[in-house]
Amino acid sequence: MAEELRIHATGKAERYKELLPQVEALIGGEKDEVANMANMAAALRQAFGFFWVGFYRVIGEELVLGPFQGPVACTRIRYGKGVCGTAWKEEKSQIVPDVDLFPGHIACNSASKSEIVIPFWKEGKIAGVLDIDSDQTGSFDETDAFYLQQMLRFLVNM
Ligand code: SME
Repeated sequence: MAEELRIHATGKAERYKELLPQVEALIGGEKDEVANMANMAAALRQAFGFFWVGFYRVIGEELVLGPFQGPVACTRIRYGKGVCGTAWKEEKSQIVPDVDLFPGHIACNSASKSEIVIPFWKEGKIAGVLDIDSDQTGSFDETDAFYLQQMLRFLVNM
């Protein structure tokens, strides 16, 4: 496909519905995981204007920063720590409407107010997480979790 996104809808679910097939086309046929994570992060930031979008990959006992879009961020997060490490430990998505109310939240940037973290699996094990930060509270809900989980399937089905 042309390396250009076309998003016209105004509603959140509708924007995800427009974005999903475009991301699938963008990364389909490309086997390199880093390239695909990079384009997925860029597509999400472009489509929604999120403050920070990026990946952390499980390497040994830590999550290590992968491709991202936005300001510089923490490089390593330990198992069970912060929102990302909690998503890894609990093996489930974390929706945080107000990061100040999440015990142990790791503040990579003080402008971040709400956050969603979605884990993804490879061969039955958590391979990493997608982390999205907003500079406003309450930006994320089950709609985001639902569509982001679908999008991450493109990544692991390569
Ligand atoms: N807030 C995250 C750390 C990563 S940054 O938001 C990019 C956490 O608590 O795990």
